[in-house]
Amino acid sequence: MSERTLVLIKPDGVARGLVGEILARIERKGLKLVALELRTTERAVAETHYAEHEGKGFYAGLLDFITGGPLVAAVVEGPRAIAAFRQLAGGTDPVEKAATGSIRGDFGLETQFNLVHGSDSPESAAREIGIWFPNL
Ligand code: TYD
Ligand code: MG
Repeated sequence: MSERTLVLIKPDGVARGLVGEILARIERKGLKLVALELRTTERAVAETHYAEHEGKGFYAGLLDFITGGPLVAAVVEGPRAIAAFRQLAGGTDPVEKAATGSIRGDFGLETQFNLVHGSDSPESAAREIGIWFPNL
């Protein structure tokens, strides 16, 4: 049984030159790239993607950050791809929650600049893939 998840290498990851490193970790895990695009994000896309966080204190900063520079959007496929990528990413707070050896744990310092996004459930994955890759 294979599933798909939506991965973003956020603008901090692109600006720091970590795209190759992060894609290599995805591929080494055995996950497959089925869509990949470098793009600048319109505000409306970012608002839809992060709709669950509307009204929270970090929401405005999050939208500014996500739309502030190019990011890499990808669809990643494999057995348990959703959980597998969340494990590769590590917890939301790169210092308090992400283990060393994870992407956030190895490269991140601040929650806002935590390098990657991965869908958190099959429902989120379907919704998010529809936002970023409507033709897939
Ligand atoms: P969330 O969905 O809780 O985390 P995750 O990306 O691990 O699924 O939050 C979305 C993003 O919002 C998170 O990756 C970084 C940002 N964020 C903050 O800037 N401050 C915060 O306190 C939280 C919880 C998230
Ligand atoms: Mg989330």
